[in-house]
Amino acid sequence: MTAVCGKGGDIGWFVHDRFGMFIHWGLYAMPARHEWVRNYEGIRDPEYRIYFELFNPDLFQPREWARAASAAGMKYVVITTKHHEGFCLWDSRYTDYKATRTPAGRDLLREMVDAFRAEGLRIGFYYSLLDWHHPDFIIDRLHPHFSDPDREEQNTGRDPRRYAQYMRDQVTELLTGYGKIDIIWFDFSYPGENGKGRDDWESEKLLHLVRELQPEIIVNNRLDLPGMGDVLTPEQFTPEEWPKDKTGRPAVWEGCQTFSGSWGYHRDENTWKSRRMCIEMLINHVSRGGNLLMNVGPTARGYFDARALDRLEGFAEWMRYHSRAIYGCTAAPDEWRAPQDCRYTWNPETRRLYLHLFAWPYKHVRLVGLGGKVRYAQLLNDGSEIRRPHDQMLVSQVKAAQEDLVLELPVTPPPVEVPVIELFL
Ligand code: GLC
Repeated sequence: MTAVCGKGGDIGWFVHDRFGMFIHWGLYAMPARHEWVRNYEGIRDPEYRIYFELFNPDLFQPREWARAASAAGMKYVVITTKHHEGFCLWDSRYTDYKATRTPAGRDLLREMVDAFRAEGLRIGFYYSLLDWHHPDFIIDRLHPHFSDPDREEQNTGRDPRRYAQYMRDQVTELLTGYGKIDIIWFDFSYPGENGKGRDDWESEKLLHLVRELQPEIIVNNRLDLPGMGDVLTPEQFTPEEWPKDKTGRPAVWEGCQTFSGSWGYHRDENTWKSRRMCIEMLINHVSRGGNLLMNVGPTARGYFDARALDRLEGFAEWMRYHSRAIYGCTAAPDEWRAPQDCRYTWNPETRRLYLHLFAWPYKHVRLVGLGGKVRYAQLLNDGSEIRRPHDQMLVSQVKAAQEDLVLELPVTPPPVEVPVIELFL
């Protein structure tokens, strides 16, 4: 296979901005039992039809979504233009299975794009390689009809080449009709028996097309092509250290995460992360050189439910005071190992190091290897000075080596979810 990636996308802005919003929205918001509900419950096309017939998000105000994302400190959005169910949020010429043919009656994608752009966010499109509605998509092991006794019969006449062409046609619409698109997020490959991969998707052709239409676009790594795409995408999992590429160099990566255990709106799913967990997640990603793409699954009526808004507000409150410990930041050089229960993020341009304290220690913290290197230290939330200990007794008890720096903390932690100390090197 030839190397098709050629010049990759423009990742400069991406590794600076660090924080984006994922949006999973489609017909599955109506059953509200996970976006894989068709697969999980083996729902047939005719039964699923009712959602298409009644889809009517009457409270859809994408400006509100965009404002919530922007307030939370998110700098880009990745929208599910089509998920595995096959339903399209835009007015595609190549299918009738689209928002314009539901009671919603309009191109919902365009309204989202306009709203998020107006808030200054960059735009990414998620596009599902799977399609459980398309008549040429071969029924495979993830398809809701896979266990049907007459599966083989259902598969006769299905033409995977036509499906691959359908994807190229749709991707062309998406990448020519909505202005500059910064990310295309293909999902996903599962090669092997009764699975699908690069030969089914005709991934090389698809990627060529994408690069031709939007040369700077970032492409994720789920097309099953050799190499990794522009971005590695661990999902529902936070790597413990900076993931490496095949040559052993630190990779560009973006973890995608949910507030609860589902991507699409799930009414009864109760494993919601706390505000604090979400913020710690963001810090963990950036402190290991990555981005965080945090998902919201809007309701069928078109709004973010109270649980999601609460987490977004948590981000907003924290980011209001701490965003400079995120934007432009990455992992700190290896020689500065963060103390217990702490993380470092590091801005190599401003040469500021950020100490994120997941647990607030009593009175002092020792920073290995930073002795003599720090000009000034302050709490980031209020810009109040943090000094070295005055009490000589304490200094001797801490047993700091020459190379270490000891800071004296107030006994009471500042009133923020995760306190941060900004160190000027
Ligand atoms: C998985 C799931 C999908 C979700 C995606 C996000 O691949 O299939 O439902 O959209 O993860 O990364």
